[in-house]
Amino acid sequence: MVFCITSCTSENSKSDRQKNQEETPDKTKEQAPVHDYLMEGNKGVGTINQFERKPFDSRLADQGNKLFIVKCTICHEVKEDKIGPALYGVTKKRTPEWILNMILTPDQMLAKDPDAIALSQSYDGMMTAMGLNEQEAKSILEYLRKEDAK
Ligand code: HEC
Repeated sequence: MVFCITSCTSENSKSDRQKNQEETPDKTKEQAPVHDYLMEGNKGVGTINQFERKPFDSRLADQGNKLFIVKCTICHEVKEDKIGPALYGVTKKRTPEWILNMILTPDQMLAKDPDAIALSQSYDGMMTAMGLNEQEAKSILEYLRKEDAK
C-alpha cells in the first residue's frame, strides 16, 4: 500500500500520520493497482469479438463483486477450485473477449472453443449461462481484474 504520495515533505501542522490516515480512503481507491487486460490471444466464440480496454473503474468492479456472489459462487471461488476452476489469475491468461464469451455464451464456447473444451476435461460440472447481459458480464470482468491485482 502506498500512503505517502504528495504530503510527506510538506510543512503541515498535523503529523504525517494523521494526515495519511485522513487521505487513505480516497487515495487507495484511485490508486488500487490493476494490471492491464491481455491484449493478444484467443477471443473465444460468441457475441463478443471486440472489447474496448478502459482504465480501471472501481464502482463497476463493486457491482461485479455483488453479481459474482449471487450468480457465480455456487460454482466458483476466486481462490479455490469448486465445481468450476478458481478464477484467480484468469484475466492474466485469457483475453477479456474470451472471458466475456465464456460468461455470456458458455454453450458455444464449450462446443467450439479449443481452450474451453480443454479446460472442461478437468471438470465434471459444466459452465452454464447465468442470464447476464453484456454490461453485467463486464462488471464481473472488472471485479476479476481487481482480484487479479492482489
Ligand atoms: C453450474 C456451475 C457454474 C456456474 C454457475 C458458473 N460457472 Fe464458470 N465454470 C464452470 C465450470 C465447470 C468451468 C470449467 C469449464 C467447463 O467444464 O464447463 C467454468 C469455467 C469458467 C471460466 C474459465 C476459467 C478459466 O480458467 O479459463 C470462467 C472465466 C468462468 N467460468 C466464469 C464464471 C462466472 C463469471 C460465472 C458467474 C456469472 C460462472 N462462471 C458461473 C462452472 C460454472
